Order: sequence, then structure tokens, then C-alpha cells
Amino acid sequence: MTQKELSQLLKSMSIEEKINQLLQLSGSVYEETGVITGPVAQMGFDQNNMPAGSVLGIVGADKLKKIQKEYIEKHPHRIPLLFMADIINGYKTIFPIPLALGCTFEPELAEVSAAIAAKESAVSGLHVTFSPMVDLVRDARWGRVMESTGEDTYLNCCFAKAFVAGYQGNNVMDKDKIAACVKHFAAYGAPTAGRDYNNVELSERTLRDDYLPVYQAAIEAGCALVMTSFNTLNRVPSSGNKKIMREILRGEMAFEGVLISDWAAIEEMVCHGMAENRKEAALRALEAGVDIDMMTPCYTGNLKNLLEEGSITEKLLDESAMRILQLKNKLGLFENPYKDADSKEEKRWLLCQEHRESARKIASKSFVLLENENILPLKKEGEKLAFIGPYVENKWIYGAWSIFAEEKDCVSIKEGIIKKIGVTPATFALGCDVLDEGQKIADFASHVESKMTYKERESHLKDAVEAAKTADKVILALGEHAAQSGEAASRAEIRIADGQMKLLERVYEVNKNIVVILFSGRPLDLREVKKYAKAILVVWFPGTEGGNAIADVLFGDFNPSGRLAMSFPYSVGQIPVHYNEFSTGRPYKETEGTRFGSKYLDIPNEPLYPFGYGLSYTSFEYSRVIIDNTKLSFGGYIKASVQVKNTGEYEGEETIQLYIQDVSASVVRPVRELKGFQKVLLKPGESREIVFGIEEMMLKFYNIDMNYCCEPGLFKVFIGGDSRTQNSAQFYYE
Ligand code: GLC
Repeated sequence: MTQKELSQLLKSMSIEEKINQLLQLSGSVYEETGVITGPVAQMGFDQNNMPAGSVLGIVGADKLKKIQKEYIEKHPHRIPLLFMADIINGYKTIFPIPLALGCTFEPELAEVSAAIAAKESAVSGLHVTFSPMVDLVRDARWGRVMESTGEDTYLNCCFAKAFVAGYQGNNVMDKDKIAACVKHFAAYGAPTAGRDYNNVELSERTLRDDYLPVYQAAIEAGCALVMTSFNTLNRVPSSGNKKIMREILRGEMAFEGVLISDWAAIEEMVCHGMAENRKEAALRALEAGVDIDMMTPCYTGNLKNLLEEGSITEKLLDESAMRILQLKNKLGLFENPYKDADSKEEKRWLLCQEHRESARKIASKSFVLLENENILPLKKEGEKLAFIGPYVENKWIYGAWSIFAEEKDCVSIKEGIIKKIGVTPATFALGCDVLDEGQKIADFASHVESKMTYKERESHLKDAVEAAKTADKVILALGEHAAQSGEAASRAEIRIADGQMKLLERVYEVNKNIVVILFSGRPLDLREVKKYAKAILVVWFPGTEGGNAIADVLFGDFNPSGRLAMSFPYSVGQIPVHYNEFSTGRPYKETEGTRFGSKYLDIPNEPLYPFGYGLSYTSFEYSRVIIDNTKLSFGGYIKASVQVKNTGEYEGEETIQLYIQDVSASVVRPVRELKGFQKVLLKPGESREIVFGIEEMMLKFYNIDMNYCCEPGLFKVFIGGDSRTQNSAQFYYE
């Protein structure tokens, strides 16, 4: 439809029809269960009377085509329904969780995984995904760090753009493309005390320097929707926050697309204490420009009344209704309401071998080798190997947000190992459960808890120790339960379960050659694990092909190249801990040995493993940093370069990282910030020159007057293999 036709359509719609376009209901209203509960029941809707403009969380080509057909036939203006869902790291073929993807330092892989997710979703009838989640994260207690690509603004901007490109392509109307929804606006990743849904207090400067750029990157990449965040930002709930929604999002960032609330976030303004009731919540949300009310009767129950009493204008209502019609039009739904839904294509593409191979390769690239005392890679023969632990046969390895994934489609470690080397050289033992006795965690569907009795635990532990006794090497597959990260899964202690620690200690008593494979949705406190392991391979939640990808890396068919996108704290007491911290007036290195320095009495300042860190089966050597000019002037350009050499025996990928420090400015600046990275594959003995361009844009920040600019002065350039590199040069910006 043309814009003119859309305007005519809007004009012909009744007030109720316009308001109904602003409602989104869960697809459960269509599920055969028939028992309608919660907000849907309160709104008096059911399968036969479902006027919402969009639904979320229901999938399947034939099912959605049937729903769409019946919906349009009943709709007075035959306006099609929008189908949305959380496709976070894949639809049926599941890729590594986004935090793992961030560790690849290859945004291109996010584009590939998003394009495959879009294809599988589109043929299954979906139009929109609630992804990418781009919240900056610096607090491993928060369970949703698993959905982010980490602690660095620049890296997250690169990934945000890549995700949007993968989902949307050049035009969301194109075949196998879906609209993306960047979330959660804004700064949801910084909840006080790492507790989900908690208040976020950020200075304007921190908000603008560190948090907002990533949402902006997604919007500049054309992201079709934005989702509000649950949190209050400086005590104002996002869904009613006119400053960030009207002034910043719609004004400064020039976002013209659909702004959708998070689940029930409009109504939650009552609990937050910024609305007395649903009516006031509806008023504040519409004034802030929130177009879709996800799963509450705030809009449908109050907007007509607010209109009649003159609290809102029809113009305000029309603005939101028009943006929703425009989104449906951008997807081509007026001409083809079924878009790409096709059950034959579903059978052809979902979990096809091509997608599985892509998932396997990306998973291998997302793993981070934290320790390796020459124990990896394993030999495919001639070594007796014992694979022990609760993740040896576990197939729930796709993370907390893979709603449509199925365990049966996943490859366990045991399956991957047997496929790779057969059975003879390997034994397998459970050892313990993922969760400890009595640990019960609510999950999307119901809850998870250990079913293992005390006797069973003792017996599995005994069998595991026996298996370890006779092995040359023990591979212990440990880690968090998938339900221990994701939404509403904050943890105050971030260690592995006591039962797993006991297994590790008991195995260590009989065999010192231990490799730990760690499944996790967040950085964990690995101080104790490190004492007993000769190697630690973090595999996060690797997705459908996890077992094959792990086998590829363990046996050297893939040389691990992941680098941490989020610091592993020495202990939870350090949190928030991130590489781009501030020097303080008494930096530890200046005050070491004295009392009066910025430090802890009981632990070091540094994280256990820093941002950008990761090992390889080979080694790399860097030359000193060469810069072609020590002065950068307005509009100028400096080249900074290093020679990188593979000094080991394996071909391997190295991620060369460029950091810049603004040594002195009108406000203090981080000790360094990532401003570039390049990943190169080098053969043994191969050396290559890596060149970075440095220009003024990279030096900008919000100065003492809150002007976004760069200031003259001394800058340091660091180029190395992680955020601790001291390989540096310096220049002046004049
Ligand atoms: C959830 C999440 C959000 C998700 C939405 C729809 O509560 O916060 O990320 O997209 O609801 O499921």
C-alpha cells in the first residue's frame, strides 16, 4: 500500500479498531488448551474474539496461515495480524548464546546466524523477532548477560548492526527476512545489585557514552522495532519515560519505527509507583510514544476513555496506529498476509544439514580456552579418556531463550566424541547432577530441580572416580543449568554447584590430568576450579551442534580462537568489573605496598580473566606498535601497525585488538577503550602486518559540558591480544 492508502485506511477505522491495533496478546489465546487465563481473560478475548493487532510466541506455517485467514475474514478492514516471537539465538537450529557469539569477535557470524534464524522463522510464519538484545553488561550476577554480546560498547555496536543485517537483509519484505526489534531500551543491563528488573542509576554521561550508542547502531542499521525495558532509569520507568523515548529515541536517534513495550511493562508502572492505575499507566505510555501494549489491558481498557475526556488526542492515537500499519506494510502483509509461511519449506530448511554445519562452526569459534597446561588438544588414539560430569550426555545445551528448540535435535558431548573417535578409547560417567539436592529453579514452562537421590549421587560419584582412576586424561563437563541464566535468573554467588565441585575434587585425588569443559550463561567465579584443572574450555551454551563442536576443539580439528567479550571476575565481590575502568587518584600500581591505594584487602583488583583474553593451541608474537605520525589533526588520519607472527605449531586465528586511552581530558576517561579489532588466520611461522586507522571520530566522548567531541591532548595506542596489553605508542591530537 502507498502511504496515501494507509492514511485513508486509518481514517476509515473506528476508535476501537485503532486501539486494538495497539494491543499484543500471547499466542496462547489460540492454543488448543482453550483455558484462557490472565490478561487475555480479563480483556474478555478468546480465539473467536481476538482483535489484537499482533500476537507473540506462536509458530508454525500452517497454524499461522489458518489464524491469519480467519483473522482477516473477521476484520472490518481486513488488516493482517503480525506474528512476533523471541528468536534470540536461532529458531530450530540453535546457535551459541549471544554472549558466546560476542567472544568470536566476528560480527559476520552474527549476521550468518541471524540470517539462518530469519529463514527458519519466516518459513514458519513469523514476521518479527525480539532480537537483538544489545544491553551493555558489566555484572555477571545478572542472568541476562547471556543475551548480550558483552561489556564493550564498540564490540556490541558491531554485533548489533550485524544481527539487524542478518534478520532484515536490505528489505524486510524480501523472502526469508523478518523484522528485528532492538531491546531493551534503555540500559536494562545495569540493574542495581545485579538483580533483574531493579532500578538503574546512571549519570547522563555514562548513559550516553557507554549505553546508548549500541541501540543507536541498531537503529542506524534500520532496525524496524524497539522494545522498552522493564527497569526504571534514574527512577523513571522506561515505558513512561518521555525523555528517553521522545527526546532521545524519536528525536536524537530519529527512530520512526514501532516502539513495543516489554511484557506487561506498561501496567508495571503501577507497581513501580509512577501510575496510580492502568489508566494513568496507559496515559504515560502513549505520551511517551509506546505503540504496542504487550499483554495488558491498559490501552484497550482506557484509551477510549482518555480520548473522550480529552486527556489524549486522536492524533496521538493515530500516530501509534499508523506506525503499526506501516510496519505491516513494510513486511508486505497487505498484499501477502502469509509472507513466507510454507510448511514444505519448513520441512526443507528447519535443522537442515547446511544450517547444522553453520551452527557447528560458529559454536567452535565461540569457545574460549582459559587455561591449557599442554594437555589439549587430545589425541584421537593412544590415550585413555574418561568423559565425566552432568554435561556429558546433557542435551539442554541451547541456553535459556531457545523457546522452540528441542533437546532431541541437539548433539551431546558423548555423541560428538563417539562420532569423532568411536567408543574404545573413551569411558563416560555422569558423576553428579547439574543442580544440587534441593535446588529448584522456576523456568518458562514449570521449574527444574535435581531428581537424583542421595544414594544415586553417591553411586554416580563412586563410578566417576573409578573411571578417572584408569584414564590418562579426564574431561569434566560441568557448569550452570540453562535455567540459571536468562530472564529473572540473577545469582548472588556465581560458582559451579557444590556437587560439581565435590566431583572435581574427588576426581583430582585420583587423576591430575583434568580438562574442564564449562557450560555457562555468564562469567563464573572459577578461582576454585582453576586449582584443579590443567585446562578450562568455556563453551557457554553452544546450541544444537554443541557436542560436535566441542569434539572438534578437544581433538584439535578446530583450534580455539574465542576471546572473552566479558571479564570473568576474581570473585563476585569485584562486580561491576570491566576492562575500561577508571584510574582513580590512587591507582594500585602507583600505591602498591602502601595502605592508601585503591584496592581490596582480600582480593586483587584485576578480574581472573580479562576482556579480550583467550588462549590458542598455538602462540602469537607481536612487534612493537608503529605509528606513522605522532600528531593527529582535525580531519587527519594516523596509521598504527604491528607485525603478528604465529610462533607455534598449529595454524590459528588471532584477534588483534586496538585500544586507545585519552590520557587527560576535561573529565576522566577510561584507562583504555576498544576501538578496533582484526581477526586473522596465520599458519605456523607466518607473520603479517596488521594496520589500524585512527581518526578523530574514535576519540569523541561527552566532555565536561556534555558536548560530544574530542579534546586536544595526549593519547596512547595499545595493540595486542587482550585488554591487558602494554604494547603501546602515543600521539597528540591537536
Ligand atoms: C520478556 C523479555 C523480553 C521478551 C519479551 C517477550 O519478558 O524481557 O526480552 O522479548 O518478554 O517474550
